[in-house]
Amino acid sequence: MVSDLDQIEQTALEALGSIQEESALETWRVAHLGRSAPLMQVFDQLGKLSKEERPIIGRRANEVKRALEAAYTQRFNDLRQAALLRSIQLERLDVTLPGRALPIGRLHPANISVRTVIRAFADMGFQVYRSPEVETDEFNFGLLNMPPHHPARDMWDTFYTNMPNVSLRPHTSPGQIHVMRTYAPEPIRAILPGMCYRYEQISARKETQFNQIEVLAVGENITMSDLKGTIADLARRLYGPDMRTRFRAAYFPFTEPSAEYDFECLLCGGKGCAVCAGTGWLEIGGCGMVHPIVLQNGGYDPLKFTGFAAGLGTERIMMLKHRIEDIRYFWANDMRFLEQF
Ligand code: PHE
Repeated sequence: MVSDLDQIEQTALEALGSIQEESALETWRVAHLGRSAPLMQVFDQLGKLSKEERPIIGRRANEVKRALEAAYTQRFNDLRQAALLRSIQLERLDVTLPGRALPIGRLHPANISVRTVIRAFADMGFQVYRSPEVETDEFNFGLLNMPPHHPARDMWDTFYTNMPNVSLRPHTSPGQIHVMRTYAPEPIRAILPGMCYRYEQISARKETQFNQIEVLAVGENITMSDLKGTIADLARRLYGPDMRTRFRAAYFPFTEPSAEYDFECLLCGGKGCAVCAGTGWLEIGGCGMVHPIVLQNGGYDPLKFTGFAAGLGTERIMMLKHRIEDIRYFWANDMRFLEQF
């Protein structure tokens, strides 16, 4: 019987030694320490043994049981440890590796330009006012002194929608009416930035969408020289003290008198190129003294108040600053262009 127990112990320990997976341990435990394991059968039969044999076999059986339990715990811990080591090695984390650089977004050059111009005007005491991109006929034209069928409406190649009287704004000037109606009869010094849309023949200096900033000053003593001074000052703030500007007589139904103003073309230094159409000057926008009818539509008494207004294309301002020779780059979404700013 004692040699039976030695055999049981040896078989069990050998079987345990060959186990490599933690999951196989439970099967071993049931087979060698479970209810119907050979060792347990020895315990069951102790009662049938003689008085002399019983304590000897009993003691030995208990020894084997303790030895197997201890071996089981030991093996369990060894396998656990091995598994842990393996996973640490496989999923090794080298904390000294340099991190992957995340691509960082940046401002679009068109927005950089809008912000630069806004800052220059803010320094001159103008405040920003937002107005809608989709406008009714009345705001786009009617209230700007162009009643229905007025031929001057043709000056803007407007995108109409299939809703009657609703169109994308072809210029920011309808915002003049909004801001005047908000503040009348207080004096105004405001700029209105935003996207405009025109059904244009696209070229190096013309796009179907572009940012415009409307400038509007209304007060009791505003003159044309305030307008010229503001534009000239803007040019100097943006391009330095030597920047040259010029005004040409023009016509807009909502200003009287009206002008167009140019900045000297910095791309060719005034010699003439594709961007300035060979003139040496780049047209930035239109301007003039706010027409009395427009003042009235905005809620101001034209006998007491005067004002000046101007519109400026900010992509063109950026083109001069960075010598960008084609406005189409702005909306072509070519990363090689966008990443340069
Ligand atoms: N809104 C005009 C345009 O886009 C420019 C302009 C603005 C002219 C303000 C006069 C006064 O053509």
